[in-house]
Amino acid sequence: MSSPDRYAVIGHPVAHSRSPRIHALFAAQTGQSLVYERIDATPAEFAAVTRAFFAGGGRGLNVTLPHKEAASALCAHLTARARRARAVNTLKAEGGGALLGDNTDGAGLVRDLEANLGVPLAGRRLLLLGAGGAVRGVLDPLLQRGPAEIVIANRTPARALGLAAEFAGTVPIRGCGLDAPGTGFDLIINGTSASLAGELPGLPPGVVQPGTVCYDMAYGREDTVFVRWACAQGAARAAMGLGMLVEQAAESFLLWRGVRPETAPVLAALQRE
Ligand code: ATR
Repeated sequence: MSSPDRYAVIGHPVAHSRSPRIHALFAAQTGQSLVYERIDATPAEFAAVTRAFFAGGGRGLNVTLPHKEAASALCAHLTARARRARAVNTLKAEGGGALLGDNTDGAGLVRDLEANLGVPLAGRRLLLLGAGGAVRGVLDPLLQRGPAEIVIANRTPARALGLAAEFAGTVPIRGCGLDAPGTGFDLIINGTSASLAGELPGLPPGVVQPGTVCYDMAYGREDTVFVRWACAQGAARAAMGLGMLVEQAAESFLLWRGVRPETAPVLAALQRE
């Protein structure tokens, strides 16, 4: 019997990544023969460790912080969404040692919102908090759902203005500071790294209205400060990004294996664990 195909998540730190668990559940569910490990590599080690993984027969990697930008440089080909995101979260071995880079984060977010949480995006007003890699990575897939407007609010307003200018197209999009994003949003997505430090992106009162849904791209075992804040502000609903994690993993699995796993039982298992 041939040995199972090898996959891994590479990051720094990576010890707490739930990706190995998710992909093991996907593999069991779909009957695919694969192993999926964790690889801790510093930024200085990243390129060499990645090349060695594929030279040794590895079939695919998920790339997480802080390597998503660096991963693009190793790819012979990039999908359109990875090019637009300027970041890669999925590497796939192609023939002849070449690597394909994709970014499934935005598709994962869109699917978690629309399919899992029943939050429509078309025709809605969206407020995105943050203007770093996390927000850049999901902007294109969000715009493709045809929202009425996207406002990007960031602690450093110039970064939000720059991102809005770069993604300007058919959907109205504008950047601003966190202090005056406006009101009337159907959905507020926190894409800042503030949650990781237990901090809140400081928004003025009144931004969350009774019908507003709040979503934190970060997640934890306990509710994040942003989720607690959203509930206290009277949000219709507040969710964390565990569903996004499972959905982006399913998109990666589809790219690698040609099979889309069912995500609902896997998300339920993770929530129980
Ligand atoms: P990532 O790739 O995770 O998005 P990043 O590029 O460092 O990381 O961006 C982090 C984002 O979180 C930025 O938008 C940052 O705001 P600035 O551009 O002003 O630095 C935002 N951020 C981090 N900590 C924050 C805090 N405590 N309050 C508000 N915004 C914060």
